[in-house]
Amino acid sequence: MTTLPGASAGSAVPRDAEPCLEQIFQLVREREGIDLRAYRRGTVERRATQRLHKLGCSDYRGYARRMAEDEAEAHHLLAHITIKVSRFFRDADVFGHLRDAVLPDLVRQIGADGELRVWSAGCGNGEEPYSMAVFLADMSREGWPIPAATIWGTDIDEEALAVATRGLYPEGALAETSPELIAAYWARRPGRLGSQYELSDDIRRRVVFARHDLLSGTGLPAGPRSPAIPCHLVLCRNVLIYFQRHAQEQVLQLLTHSLAPGGYLCLGEAEQLTKAQAGHYETIDRRAGLYRRTREGLSGGSTGVVS
Ligand SMILES: C[S@@+](CC[C@H](N)C(=O)[O-])C[C@H]1O[C@@H](n2cnc3c(N)ncnc32)[C@H](O)[C@@H]1O
Repeated sequence: MTTLPGASAGSAVPRDAEPCLEQIFQLVREREGIDLRAYRRGTVERRATQRLHKLGCSDYRGYARRMAEDEAEAHHLLAHITIKVSRFFRDADVFGHLRDAVLPDLVRQIGADGELRVWSAGCGNGEEPYSMAVFLADMSREGWPIPAATIWGTDIDEEALAVATRGLYPEGALAETSPELIAAYWARRPGRLGSQYELSDDIRRRVVFARHDLLSGTGLPAGPRSPAIPCHLVLCRNVLIYFQRHAQEQVLQLLTHSLAPGGYLCLGEAEQLTKAQAGHYETIDRRAGLYRRTREGLSGGSTGVVS
């Protein structure tokens, strides 16, 4: 596991953190519907301490009181804990595998008349599911017989989902995108604070965004959660890192449940399967965190994707 961005920043955690955290967790649960007890305690304490100092509170008791009085603070704390830093095609190695191996394999197996289902869980501002949509559009331009595709992007953060739906990004989000792809799928929008890049309507239409809490399992569009219509590719990168071990296991169970036998799970470079879940997968590339779900009862080998 790598360290979360910004984890070392901030001052020492005040001594009264422990007794007050329960109260803070309850307020976040009531107002945001998210259970911070499942998140890594060290990260939560560091981020809460940073908020506490920013608001000029001297201790946790003061911060808990401030949160009780200020409706918006639970939201600010949650947003500060789950920082949404991403880029299109972030981690070239991972996206190389997805473009050169995973998508061609799925497209061949599903066939032009089938339906390809992709779920980006914890999608932040949408760069990850849109990257997959761009790959599929580009394969289609190259003459691949692409099946109809449904790509879901889900997250707990409504503001991130609004950014994703709008499809307008700062230049930095495209730092790992080739000029050819930018020219084909984005339009530059010059502005006073620098240029922004707007995704084409065709790409935006390919992704469905929805609020979903991976820890509670509620609110997901029918596709990924329903065992009757499992996904062929599930991406969940830089998300498990926020959770305690038992919560990681719970989320991985959900992802495994959402995948068709022979479908792919992409956890990226920062995360790995737990021992308990590893038995359901063969490893495609450990560094890229790429796994393929086996048929239950089989120990590995080639398995067809159920579409
Ligand atoms: C660092 S971003 C990762 C974005 C993208 N997957 C990537 O790697 O580029 C982590 C995302 O996980 C989301 N997240 C945190 N807790 C979550 C939960 N319980 N359910 C769903 N998403 C969650 C955050 O809101 C944030 O958008």
